[in-house]
Amino acid sequence: MTPALTLRHYTRDDLPQIRQILIDTQRDVYSGVTEDEEFRQRFPWFVDHWGGHPGFACVIARDGDEVAGFAYGAPGTEGREWWRKHLDETPERARTFHLSELMVREPWRKTGTAERLHRALMGTRNDDLAVLLVDVTHPKVQALYESWGYRKVGEDQPFPDSPVFAVMMSELPLS
Ligand SMILES: CC(C)(COP(=O)(O)OP(=O)(O)OC[C@H]1O[C@@H](n2cnc3c(N)ncnc32)[C@H](O)[C@@H]1OP(=O)(O)O)[C@@H](O)C(=O)NCCC(=O)NCCS
Repeated sequence: MTPALTLRHYTRDDLPQIRQILIDTQRDVYSGVTEDEEFRQRFPWFVDHWGGHPGFACVIARDGDEVAGFAYGAPGTEGREWWRKHLDETPERARTFHLSELMVREPWRKTGTAERLHRALMGTRNDDLAVLLVDVTHPKVQALYESWGYRKVGEDQPFPDSPVFAVMMSELPLS
């Protein structure tokens, strides 16, 4: 059944209010997962990094008082977008939104919550492209993004201790 969710949008000014919610939700989503643990322990640093961006945009889904999941990202710096080295030609319209995180807690998986979060976040954007990274060892997550219109344009390992990621791109607005 589709849960009755409340989706709320946040910006950089809201970071102090939502910071701990994001951190607690990430801990819950990955509890019991040992893969890439050390890298994932740096999540609070990433929250501050992304949340401090002037264009930070976040959506949190709640089911009553419970957080069901969240999605966030920020516009890329022109000329330094993740896709640059993977495409031979720069797209004509190239303003890029980097989707940094999408997480849904276990009880709300396979309920459409992830897609709703993604659509809600992207629905506020007037960028031309959306780009995200998916661990190459998670082909089902990659397939999920493909079903939403993304295509893989390359692979990248942004940090020495991070997984190897598929770089995935979609034109905006979403169809
Ligand atoms: C990605 C996510 C938001 C998708 O939620 P959803 O639309 O409800 O879809 P599901 O949870 O059913 O995930 C789709 C498939 O990918 C798999 N999958 C999801 N996250 C995964 C992960 N971190 N590692 C490996 N496989 C994963 C699921 O097991 C599922 O496979 P199945 O169909 O065989 O059961 C949710 O699974 C999640 O929060 N995962 C953990 C965080 C994550 O990996 N985020 C993506 C970062 S790019």
